[in-house]
Amino acid sequence: MSIKPKKIVLAYSGGLDTSVMIQWLKEQYDAEIIAFAADLGQGEDIEPLRQKALATGASKIYIEDIKEEFVQEYIFPALKADAVYEKKYLLATALSRPLIAKKLVEIARLESADAVAHGCTGKGNDQVRFEVGISTLAPEIQILAPARGWEFKSREEEMEYAQRHNIPVSAKKGSLYSIDKNLWGISVECGVIEDPAIEPPDDSFQIVSPINNTPDTPEYVEIGFEAGVPVGMNGEQMNPVELIMRLNTLGGKHGVGRVDMVENRVVGIKSREVYEAPGAYILHEAHWALQALILDRECSHFKEMVALRYAELIYYGLWFTPLKRALDAFVETTQTNVTGTVRLRLYKGTVSIAGRTSPFSLYSYKMATYDVADAFDHKAAEGFVKIWGLPYKYMP
Ligand code: ARG
Repeated sequence: MSIKPKKIVLAYSGGLDTSVMIQWLKEQYDAEIIAFAADLGQGEDIEPLRQKALATGASKIYIEDIKEEFVQEYIFPALKADAVYEKKYLLATALSRPLIAKKLVEIARLESADAVAHGCTGKGNDQVRFEVGISTLAPEIQILAPARGWEFKSREEEMEYAQRHNIPVSAKKGSLYSIDKNLWGISVECGVIEDPAIEPPDDSFQIVSPINNTPDTPEYVEIGFEAGVPVGMNGEQMNPVELIMRLNTLGGKHGVGRVDMVENRVVGIKSREVYEAPGAYILHEAHWALQALILDRECSHFKEMVALRYAELIYYGLWFTPLKRALDAFVETTQTNVTGTVRLRLYKGTVSIAGRTSPFSLYSYKMATYDVADAFDHKAAEGFVKIWGLPYKYMP
């Protein structure tokens, strides 16, 4: 029951697909196209996209720096929750999608647009995340996904279309990979990576040095946390965007944060993915180490289950949902005392915890020690162990 949209807001990256898409949407719907491009810390100047979008047929472009919001409202909640998908993926791409969906909806409302469009294909996760986000926040807005049904069967055909319509696209052959980048990490797929039996080639990594190019001496970094979120490094308070960027550089230099995995996509297929997330990896390790000092055993173990579900929610595109909000409430209460510092050692692709301290530490030296200061009641253990083992004692 969709009506023909008159004004469409397009999530625009400036690449071949979304450049072609501006013209394609105009032709298809005879509609006005407004582009939206976001600075999520992908490390590229996006200002040139302004000219490009307008030259390609957009009536207007919104360019927004949303790094700070990305960190505070998406990255940090995931860090506090220890959200990691299938043991390895730190969710950089997945976390950015609900935020982009939210911005698309905001702009559509501001512009009284009746549709939003994205460039995702029909077999990825990102279509799910965009569309579930958009339809949750704004059920009245139509969603268009041209790449799921348009006539182009290859990059060459798109190039041809671009030439026919005088759409300026760079002549150089595009990357062999499909790459998505932001402050929290880089996701790489396609090309030779699609064969899970083959080692990812060096050119599939961009910010993490191969181990043979890393320094031969370890480097230490100290990260300060307050209530579960990092607030600075090496004793210096720091804006979180800058902190993550600094850790990306530092970790990258030491070969930290590369991942090569086969993962289960929302649409039911397995895919081979390569990720780089040095800053995210360091912060997850640090957060985990600090939290271990502070949470009681039961909270800690329960939180592991929550972490698993939380990561699934992010991966599945279920960010704006009641369960996500409910889990946030749990995570938040566990983070009140996650304050302190963690010292880490970076060396040849590894991150080791060199030390951790917190004013809220539950670690008690006199309880733990085996030397003369020991204050643990060894006698009391006798009864405890007897009762603990009782259920099994009289088993047939
Ligand atoms: N597999 C990852 C995810 O689902 C990365 C997706 C990367 N997206 C892309 N357009 N290259 O989050």
